[in-house]
Amino acid sequence: MIPEDKVREVAERLSIVEVVSEYVPLRRAGANFTGLCPFHAEKTPSFNVNPAREIFHCFGCGAGGNAFSFIMRIEGLSFPEAVKLMARKTGVEIEERQLTPVEKQAQSERQTFQRINDLAAGFYRSVLEQRPEGAMARAYLEKRAAIGEIAEAYRLGFASDRGDGLVQHLKSNGMALESALKLGLVRKSERGWYDQFRNRLMFPIRDAKGAVIAFAGRVLDASLPKYINSPESPLYHKSSVLFGLDMALPSIRTENSVIIVEGYFDHLALFRAGIRNVVATCGTALTTTHTGLIKRHAARVYTLFDSDAAGRKATIRSMELFMEQRLPAYVITLPAGDDPDSFLANNPVEVFRTCQEKARPAFEFFIRSLLAQTPPDSVDSKVRIIDELLPRFKKIADPVERDLYEKEICRLLGITVHAFRKRMGGMNLTDRDTRIEQKQALQKGDPVQETLLALICGYPEARDEALRTGSENLFDGDYLELARLVLDTLANNDDTQALSRLSDRIEAPGVRSLLSRMLVSDARMADIDWRSAFDSCLRSREKLAIQPIRDMATQLAVLDPDSPEYTALLKKADALRTRKSKIQP
Ligand code: UTP
Ligand code: MN
Repeated sequence: MIPEDKVREVAERLSIVEVVSEYVPLRRAGANFTGLCPFHAEKTPSFNVNPAREIFHCFGCGAGGNAFSFIMRIEGLSFPEAVKLMARKTGVEIEERQLTPVEKQAQSERQTFQRINDLAAGFYRSVLEQRPEGAMARAYLEKRAAIGEIAEAYRLGFASDRGDGLVQHLKSNGMALESALKLGLVRKSERGWYDQFRNRLMFPIRDAKGAVIAFAGRVLDASLPKYINSPESPLYHKSSVLFGLDMALPSIRTENSVIIVEGYFDHLALFRAGIRNVVATCGTALTTTHTGLIKRHAARVYTLFDSDAAGRKATIRSMELFMEQRLPAYVITLPAGDDPDSFLANNPVEVFRTCQEKARPAFEFFIRSLLAQTPPDSVDSKVRIIDELLPRFKKIADPVERDLYEKEICRLLGITVHAFRKRMGGMNLTDRDTRIEQKQALQKGDPVQETLLALICGYPEARDEALRTGSENLFDGDYLELARLVLDTLANNDDTQALSRLSDRIEAPGVRSLLSRMLVSDARMADIDWRSAFDSCLRSREKLAIQPIRDMATQLAVLDPDSPEYTALLKKADALRTRKSKIQP
């Protein structure tokens, strides 16, 4: 753990403009700097950096925060990792806080697990490279052109069928076999300990930093199961791991895109062909954790799945995840019957590049495969197609894209836009749709509450005034949560960076984005008459608050004064009036 005052010291020595400039060319624009957002694809700059507030915010995708948030996101680091990286750059020495006994135990257990995995990877590797019992595997890899540098890059290995080779190796290195059991590397029977992986080609699975966290073992023939995979363990959570990410990162950065494949051997085939911005899932469907991870590193993604029914289903499922992340997704299709391995074995890499250039946007792929499955030749089939399309169509975040697809769908189906929209209106929004809409509403924001917050940040007098009025009388929803945090922060810290640091403590991305958006443009609040701005905001809020009182009065007029409904409504109206009188004494 890094002590709080060290974090602060590093933050004080940083300049957000310098930090961001290392990744994004910035130009001055008034009080701010602007540039092209590194977190989403855009052609006109909506990425803003406010040097006075030490805050960045992108008006296009909502990303925002301070220098640490920027580094975390662009380098894919955790908060402590980002602080340490910046500490090295600014020459601040960090002595970590003492760990608690529980933390210490967890840390030492992790180190043991890590050591066991490293020993196992080294052991399998040496069997493959040097031992007589590795001969079969060497021959197999020769056949699949996965020897020499390629085998080295993946640290491929072989688990022989001797049955206790790894057990003996771990023992002679003084490792507790109970720990290896937790990693799924060894097992125990009445006759003693034995190896879990036998007679299998071993793919080490590594994390983003290259540490071996699990294994996948493939048979050398056609027997089943084809792969045996390590179980979940403290080191390995398969739904959040992308195979090959450590090898792919440099190229992902330069290409600003990621290609996702399904198989380890697909990954290997692309790597051999010199295509390096590739990752594979580890025998699971893509998850939101995966897509979130991809979004941290790249602005667009390609899927390259098998061209069979299962592959198509996986492609469409992943499309939905990418839409939710607002990450542009494209589908690379290879000729039927080919996978990347077979395709690259029979074609030069340029032909693959052409396939990649011809990749279709995922949604277009989806429409086409739907139409191929259900030809739109009757009213009935058209209705079925539309009902399949609509829930996904609604997730298209970009209005221009949505408009184009709407036209395209209507053209392909031979229906009017009017009819399409009518069908769309009739369908209920799912929870997820409403969540996205709420997010977008937040992105638009409430100008009145935002101005009030900006005044509080910029003028100590406005802050005192807000404290007198009470934040619950000025704000609601996320704004209220944020206002409370801001007032609290400013009451305890009066330096200019206090609010920038606050962004590290906000968990909810929506609220954090609200803060960065407000701070990044608060230069427009400089040198204004805070009092009259504050008052005009108050009047707007008040109008909003009185609205329900008017409605209530109308309702009260028609109710029986002896009824319980009348009493309840009267109580409500009274409460509102009190609130109103607090706003304007
Ligand atoms: P594939 O059967 O396509 O394997 O499964 P592959 O790695 O491409 O191997 P080759 O080229 O056919 O020899 C794709 C992925 O599905 C997972 C693995 O991650 C594999 O790479 N899988 C497959 C399993 O986890 N278990 C299995 O039994 C099969
Ligand atoms: Mn395959």
